[in-house]
Amino acid sequence: MASNLCSTHSVASNVYEFVEEHGRTYHKYKQGKYVLPNDTEEQNRLDLQHHMALKVLDGKLHLAPIPNTVENTLDVATGTGIWAIEFAEQYPSTSVTGSDLSPIQPKFLPANCLFEIDDAGDEWVYSKKFDYIHIRFVMTCFPNPKAVIEQAYKTCAPGGYLEMMDGVFPLRCHDDSLEGTVLDAWAKSCHEAGTKMGRPWNNTPNYKGWMEEVGFEDVNERIFEVPTNPWPRERKAKELGMWFNADLQEALGASRALFIKALEWPPDKVDAFLQEVKDDLMKREIRAYMPIHVLYGRKPLR
Ligand SMILES: C[S@@+](CC[C@H](N)C(=O)[O-])C[C@H]1O[C@@H](n2cnc3c(N)ncnc32)[C@H](O)[C@@H]1O
Repeated sequence: MASNLCSTHSVASNVYEFVEEHGRTYHKYKQGKYVLPNDTEEQNRLDLQHHMALKVLDGKLHLAPIPNTVENTLDVATGTGIWAIEFAEQYPSTSVTGSDLSPIQPKFLPANCLFEIDDAGDEWVYSKKFDYIHIRFVMTCFPNPKAVIEQAYKTCAPGGYLEMMDGVFPLRCHDDSLEGTVLDAWAKSCHEAGTKMGRPWNNTPNYKGWMEEVGFEDVNERIFEVPTNPWPRERKAKELGMWFNADLQEALGASRALFIKALEWPPDKVDAFLQEVKDDLMKREIRAYMPIHVLYGRKPLR
């Protein structure tokens, strides 16, 4: 663990450096562990995705029934830290720690928020227990997500909560309008590339069972459908579709290196393919969506 506060490990000198590949930058600490970039384009995408997540939850930062006086909060794989910062502002009584492989969080922070560079796949060595642990949009991250949930259980205070929010790939559709499209091929290929790299993108439906197996109780799960563009009629779904479409447009560029590295496609083939996916993303006759699961469970008091 490399931390900007107290830690039992020393800060590796390369933690604050980035690696450049295929025109994008990537984390240098534990280089190669995470497949998506960490540059400004990607940071903007993560912030945009945060607003989509808020829209899914009708403006709420969480669903777990945590008290207003919640003390210690951990945001695992925090990204730009946007959720952690807003949570710290909303709950002044809490002390929020956000951790990530990439040092892409802002420097000027609320006094009750700090960030550290850490690999959540390693053993967690926090000196305190957390009353609330939040993990969001990590479907591309971990070779063994259940082990991360286990660490969260170990690190959670008795009576505390773990909350997770995540999507699932490939995309879904209630009719046959996604079938045979380039958009469908893209989502399936992303999942295939993730699988080749030991991180299949379809683990989220297993989270509930894993949370229960490691010991969380009263695990509550809700599944939302996020449309790939504003194809639905209903207002909230239409708005969600606009947010997710913008997110996906950015995600296409972030996925480019996956096709080159994991699937070994020539770069010009990838570029032509991604252009076709971009066109498909705008077609309202393709009524696709991604399920987003939101779950929370409590660590027993005993
Ligand atoms: C899609 S982003 C989600 C960011 C944030 N949770 C959010 O919802 O805005 C995934 C994040 O996980 C981080 N990550 C990937 N693997 C990790 C690991 N092993 N340990 C810690 N962070 C990791 C990445 O650096 C990236 O910032």
